[in-house]
Amino acid sequence: MPKKYDLTVYGATGFTGVQAARAFADVSQRHGLKIAISGRNHEKLKSLAATLSRPVDILVAESTDKKALNHLTKQSKLVVNLAGPFAKYAPHLIASCVENRCNYIDITGEATFIGEMIELHHQQAQKSGVRIIPFCGFDSIPSDIGWYYMLREWRKRFLHSNEACQKISALFQIRGGFNGGTIATAIQLAKEGKAQVLSRNLTLLCDPNLPLPNAGADWIAPRKIKGLEGYGAPFFMAPINTRVVRRSQSLFAKDELPLTFSPSRDVLYEEGLYVKESVPAMSSAISTMLFALNIFSRSKILAAVVEKIAPKSGSGPSEENMNSGFAKVSYVATGERGSILQGKFRSEGDPGNRTTIKLLIQAALCLALDEERKKLPEASGVLTPAYAFRDVLIDRLIENGVQLSIDSPVVKLTAKTKPHGPTASD
Ligand SMILES: NC(=O)c1ccc[n+]([C@@H]2O[C@H](COP(=O)([O-])OP(=O)(O)OC[C@H]3O[C@@H](n4cnc5c(N)ncnc54)[C@H](OP(=O)(O)O)[C@@H]3O)[C@@H](O)[C@H]2O)c1
Repeated sequence: MPKKYDLTVYGATGFTGVQAARAFADVSQRHGLKIAISGRNHEKLKSLAATLSRPVDILVAESTDKKALNHLTKQSKLVVNLAGPFAKYAPHLIASCVENRCNYIDITGEATFIGEMIELHHQQAQKSGVRIIPFCGFDSIPSDIGWYYMLREWRKRFLHSNEACQKISALFQIRGGFNGGTIATAIQLAKEGKAQVLSRNLTLLCDPNLPLPNAGADWIAPRKIKGLEGYGAPFFMAPINTRVVRRSQSLFAKDELPLTFSPSRDVLYEEGLYVKESVPAMSSAISTMLFALNIFSRSKILAAVVEKIAPKSGSGPSEENMNSGFAKVSYVATGERGSILQGKFRSEGDPGNRTTIKLLIQAALCLALDEERKKLPEASGVLTPAYAFRDVLIDRLIENGVQLSIDSPVVKLTAKTKPHGPTASD
């Protein structure tokens, strides 16, 4: 049966959900897409619909109501999910998407939950040709697409000299507040003891039957990154983002010929927080803060205290805070003979809301627009943004206000590098 909606926004009444519903109403108008909004509360959905730039249909579905979820996924080509904690609200929705051949994307950063979804649904989704693509917000597109972009650019520049890329480091700078929903999710993870599961397994999301990628330990202290002024300090998102990139690496590895130049699984991906000051105390202070955050995500008692005092679900930073925030990533790719290529990601607006919605919209349009979907690889299953969207998403991001670029046209060559190696030109 033909599906009625090109796209349904689920969790549309939450803090990020409202922003997504507004943005999707605007873009769907421009692209002639038929959309619906969905959630558990009809009254809230009706009030929201009245504020949108165009009329949209409403589908009511509580997260455990399988009948209502099936009704939704049978009528939708794509569900965009913003109802979190996802481990709590997404399991039946994802199962229903797989069953009813409905593509799915979300903004989760809950890697352990997605590990469970891979085990439960990857094979069936592959058989049915359904794409389940989590991590399409600030977690983890700048990491995953950034890694893919840097490797792509490396290969373009170094193919002739055959210098393989050994390592890609990503250093984050962020400004913005926390959403109540994000804190609720962190509390939920702490209660379930999921942080330990994540930190114990560096290749948590990789299929053990596929070639495993090169995986370095999570950083516990600041370090110097060759080619970059300043330092990299431990970053609380790194244990999630690195696992996502490693899943991409292992998925790509199964497609690559054994002798492919610079096989993606051999490249060590690492990330941290960028600290400009050379004062070691500055880095140590940040490490300590992040260590405390890490402890918080492991401690049930601390989580209970935070639950009492933190902003509640449904709330988030002020408009001013969201608009004045930003997300910036500096990438450094290093070759086996010491060459360096630097790149940059920059998005105006806070990471958790403005940037997340911007990234999510473009990921969704890769699937929702026929002309874009046709350019995507055939791949289906529980995928990553880089593996599923590749250059199609990179082009859309660049065209829609996200900076993704190679920093400098000059590749710094060391004495060890062959003299006929490339002097990279952009
Ligand atoms: N990737 C990223 O960078 C990123 C950025 C921001 C947020 N997030 C994650 O996204 C999630 C949402 O964040 P948020 O700030 O929007 O949270 P929020 O404001 O608390 O929204 C939660 C949503 O879940 C819905 N919900 C609650 N119980 C439900 C149920 N039983 N059935 C169906 N829906 C239910 C809520 O509906 P009602 O309105 O009816 O209560 C609301 O729509 C969080 O997990 C957060 O960690 C990720």
